[in-house]
Order: sequence, then structure tokens, then C-alpha cells
Amino acid sequence: MSSPGKAELIHVFKGIPFTTRSSPELLKSLDNFDAREDDVLLVSYPKSGTHWLAGVITKLYNSQVTLTSPIEFGDISKLEELDKLSSKRIIPTHLDYNMLPPNFKKKKCKMIYISRNPKDTAVSMYHYYRDNPNLPTVDTWTAFFDLFLRGDVVCGSWFDHFLSWEEHKNETNILFLFYEDMKKDLPKIVKDITVFLNINISDHEIQDICKKSSFSEMKTNTEKENSDPNHTVCALTSNRKLIFRKGTVGDWKNHFTPKQNLRFEEIFNEKMKLSNMAKDLIYEF
Ligand code: A3P
Repeated sequence: MSSPGKAELIHVFKGIPFTTRSSPELLKSLDNFDAREDDVLLVSYPKSGTHWLAGVITKLYNSQVTLTSPIEFGDISKLEELDKLSSKRIIPTHLDYNMLPPNFKKKKCKMIYISRNPKDTAVSMYHYYRDNPNLPTVDTWTAFFDLFLRGDVVCGSWFDHFLSWEEHKNETNILFLFYEDMKKDLPKIVKDITVFLNINISDHEIQDICKKSSFSEMKTNTEKENSDPNHTVCALTSNRKLIFRKGTVGDWKNHFTPKQNLRFEEIFNEKMKLSNMAKDLIYEF
């Protein structure tokens, strides 16, 4: 049997490519989603460190919290499932700001947006595409590089996603984080998260959470766990090796040719010329 083609795996909704695992009915109904004031949203463009952040956040609470699969993932029954949850909900999403259910905005739910330098994000996404049968086949890094720059990948353009959220950087219910800052000083970022979420926790507990959230710990533990796809950030694969690949800053240098790097920077500078947050992105240590 031949592997499924792009048309079977991807559909476009409001100009953004989604996998067919996000049903058009669900995407349409998100406008009526009933948010709760204590929902916490984990927002990211794919491959920006969402699992890492989710691993940290779920360890911060003493009370019961439920990490759901991304709100845009599944069919129409998803909304009912989320509605049935009695505990506090930690809800991941890759939606761009304009597609976010309006109720989250009205109720001023807390949202944490994590971003990562787009060169490493592209490389991480390339490996994810290459090894995941639920995504269209990409033959080479060169081919994927072009798709990424065009935004012809799941969740659309990295540039548009980042810019759509940056427009809201002054809203006090949104915390912006960078993957590279988590790599540099995780305890500091965890502290910032606890302040933002009003969680009382000792420095000793923070140190312990950071230890348990290291790349190697998370990779080892996740391979032992039998992850329920309804409660994982990446519902597109049960192969955890695809999620915990390398976990470094600067892997792009092992993939980008000098010519690709120039082209990337030209496009980046043009698209991000009005962005202040883009100036804070770190590409290597
Ligand atoms: P790489 O493919 O570069 O290794 P997401 O969770 O948004 O899908 O992002 C996945 C990326 O985050 C992968 O990047 C993965 O290795 C990295 N990652 C996951 N857990 C991590 C951790 N504890 N520390 C550092 N990086 C982590």
C-alpha cells in the first residue's frame, strides 16, 4: 500500500495548513468554545519546546491539573470532552492569535507563548516531518527549507505566527518565553512562570522540578510512559523519540548552507522589520 499523499494528510482552514486530524468541524466550532477563567493556555509554533514547557508547568501544581491535547486537534467531540473535565485545564495550542477562541481573550485567561529561534525550529520540524508518517513526505532538507520559508507547513508561517502573538505583548495575561532562555537559566524562567501563575513554591522545589525537566530525564521518562494521546502536547505521534530529538541551540548550523543562511536572513529581515521581540532571538551560545 502506498503512503498517504499530502491531500489526505493536510487541509487548509482560513489560509493555514492543518493536518486532517484537526477536523474542519472542530476548527469552525472553536469560535464558540467555552473557556474557563482558570484555564492556562500553552501557545507555540510547533517544535518550539512545548513539551518541555508543559512538563515544567504540570509539575508546578499541588492540586490536580489536566494537560489536554491541543485544542485544535481531533473532531467535534473534543469540545464536549474538554467540557467534562472537572480539574483545572492546561491547554496547549499552535493556533495563531487570530484563530484563538474569542472566549479565552474575553475571559483574560492566562496564556504562555513560547518561541524558539526559527532556524532551529525549522530544523526540528524537518526531522519531525521526515520521520512522522502522519505528515507529508519531504525528501530533502533543501525541499523542506523552501516549504518552511513559504509557510507551506502545518500551522503555516513561523513569521506570521510570531507576529500575530507579538501584537499582544503588552497584555498582562500573556507571558512570552524563549526556548533559548530556558536552556540558559531554567530556574529563573520557572520562577518567572510561578510568579505569572501565582504559584507559591520554594526555590528548593524549583531546583527539583528543573532537574526532572532536563532533556535527558524527560527523554528517558517519556520513553517509559505509555502516553495517552488525549493528554499529550503532540497528538500526531506516539513515537516519543520524534519529540525528544536533540534539545540543543544551534543545530541549524549543521543543516543550513551559507547560501540558505543568507536567504533566510534576507526574508527574516524583511518580514520581521517591525518586530521588537525578533531582536531578542538567540541563535547560538
Ligand atoms: P529538537 O528537534 O531540536 O531536538 P515541541 O515540544 O514544541 O514539539 O518541541 C520539540 C523540541 O523541543 C525538540 O527539539 C526537542 O528535543 C526539544 N525539547 C523537548 N524537551 C526538551 C528539554 N527538556 N530540554 C531541551 N529541549 C527539549
